[in-house]
Amino acid sequence: MTDLYGIIGYPLHHTLSPAMQNAAFKAAGIDAHYVALSVAPNRIRAALRGLKSSGFAGFNVTVPYKETVLPFLDRISPEARSVGAVNTILARRGRWIGHNTDVHGFRMLIRRLKVRLKSARVLVYGAGGAARAVVSALIRDAECVMIQNRTARKARTLRDFFPAPHRRKIILVRQPEAVSGPALDLIVNATSVGLRPADRSIVPAAVLRKSRAAVDLIYNPPLTHFLRLAAAQGCRSANGFDMLLYQGALAFELWTGRSAPLSAMRRALRKTF
Ligand code: ATR
Repeated sequence: MTDLYGIIGYPLHHTLSPAMQNAAFKAAGIDAHYVALSVAPNRIRAALRGLKSSGFAGFNVTVPYKETVLPFLDRISPEARSVGAVNTILARRGRWIGHNTDVHGFRMLIRRLKVRLKSARVLVYGAGGAARAVVSALIRDAECVMIQNRTARKARTLRDFFPAPHRRKIILVRQPEAVSGPALDLIVNATSVGLRPADRSIVPAAVLRKSRAAVDLIYNPPLTHFLRLAAAQGCRSANGFDMLLYQGALAFELWTGRSAPLSAMRRALRKTF
């Protein structure tokens, strides 16, 4: 029988996960199918209750439901608990286990960019869900994580989310231009600025110049103004493509117990651009 998987989110017209996961199942010779389940916020709780008693074998969860699903879980992985958000659910006989593979995806992205996490000094722009996954991925090993956000209150909320020993490494910055000290190892754009092709970088060139590397979580468009500016300042740089790929690869492995057919997944993603 065909195993069913899906992604829950709203709206979902941009999701590339069905193309990536269906290619993965095909390449691995697994009889499974992955569908997009776009559910409006006023229906999400009823939908989740229904899905729990359905035959689905697993889900991805995306914005705006990564926290909404928490009360529906029977177990949560330590990783997902520490981020406070779930993007992958494994369903076994009506029991749901929540994982967070975004953190792994981000770690793989920066590993491929040859950023050493140990004792790194990192500057993160943004304080939404994406920024929280990034800070979670960095905070254990980094020396310090600076956060800059348009709305200062949200940056404080993000810092306060972390337990005390980690919170101490988080510095809220108003004016990154004024940050002195040793060079930065990494700057991350975890805001939505850049999604529209006309968006200008909110990170000034003078700030990018202080960093060895820069990452934009945005992968579409693939080359944002932020990334162009970063490259022009001599930063090694990457977009969010590998994060998307590796979060999907780990979800596949959690669901199937098999290693992910990475090149087939990469190819399927590339084809969608
Ligand atoms: P996600 O879950 O994808 O992180 P989000 O929670 O809506 O999405 O967060 C979007 C982030 O982009 C926020 O940090 C937001 O800043 P505010 O907290 O001040 O809203 C940031 N952002 C969006 N548009 C921005 C803009 N024009 N200038 C600066 N930051 C912006």
